[in-house]
Amino acid sequence: MSKQIQTRRKTVRDIRAAKGATPLVCLTAYTAPMAELLDERVDMMLVGDSVGMVVHGLPTTVGVTLDMMIMHGKAVMRGSTQAFVVVDMPFGYYEGSLEQAFTNASRVMRETGCQAVKIESGAYAADTVRHLVERGVPVVAHVGLRPQATHVDGGFKAKGRTQEEVDRVMNEALAADEAGCLAMVVEGVAEELGRQVTAAVSCPTIGIGASTACDGQILVTDDMLGMFDWTPKFVRKYADLRSEIGKAVDGYAEDVRQRQFPSEAETYNFKGQN
Ligand code: KIV
Repeated sequence: MSKQIQTRRKTVRDIRAAKGATPLVCLTAYTAPMAELLDERVDMMLVGDSVGMVVHGLPTTVGVTLDMMIMHGKAVMRGSTQAFVVVDMPFGYYEGSLEQAFTNASRVMRETGCQAVKIESGAYAADTVRHLVERGVPVVAHVGLRPQATHVDGGFKAKGRTQEEVDRVMNEALAADEAGCLAMVVEGVAEELGRQVTAAVSCPTIGIGASTACDGQILVTDDMLGMFDWTPKFVRKYADLRSEIGKAVDGYAEDVRQRQFPSEAETYNFKGQN
């Protein structure tokens, strides 16, 4: 008889129940140790394609591959038991056709064991959201500033500062909601627009550079931990790990050069003949 697998992981229902309730706490995670640290503290972890820039040193998220996302998705799943885990679909792996989207999204779900995938959602993407959801793939949409569209936009630019942009983002949000996304990341938009989208859609919105009115907030973990000198305006740094790590490495280097490391307590002694 097969053993019943016990899981305390949050489900789509828990995430959807957050609409208009206590805001969802969401952060990115790319590795097992970070997932372990975040697991009890957050509702949702996103294995974002930001991994390409944060971990792999890429200039944008455009160079991220499906294999990279699957590798990091597996690590985050291994390191967690409770949080709802979403894996980003990288650029070029879901926009080509509905079949391409399902083949690749189902592979991500199957190989990582994650709870949902995220896709950046221009208006055209509503059909993709519907196609995936109808076939059993829960989808988090992503509207507003879409990092994968950076080459079309000419950089990482906030949205919703002109009426045309407001209308476009609102239409994209309504289309993804109507198509059945379970939640929606709203990134880099004017505060009023974040508020309006949240009021207009039935699913929870997760803001990043959007509005406190959103049904949750997400940040790139490395940004909020202070790992980078430059961060976007919307990042609040809750730690200064960059300088802490610099100090620690300076201390180690000094000890090594002065032959102060390792000490007696940090070395092994010969125990004599057997
Ligand atoms: O890739 C990512 O980390 C994201 C967040 C910024 C929402 O999409």
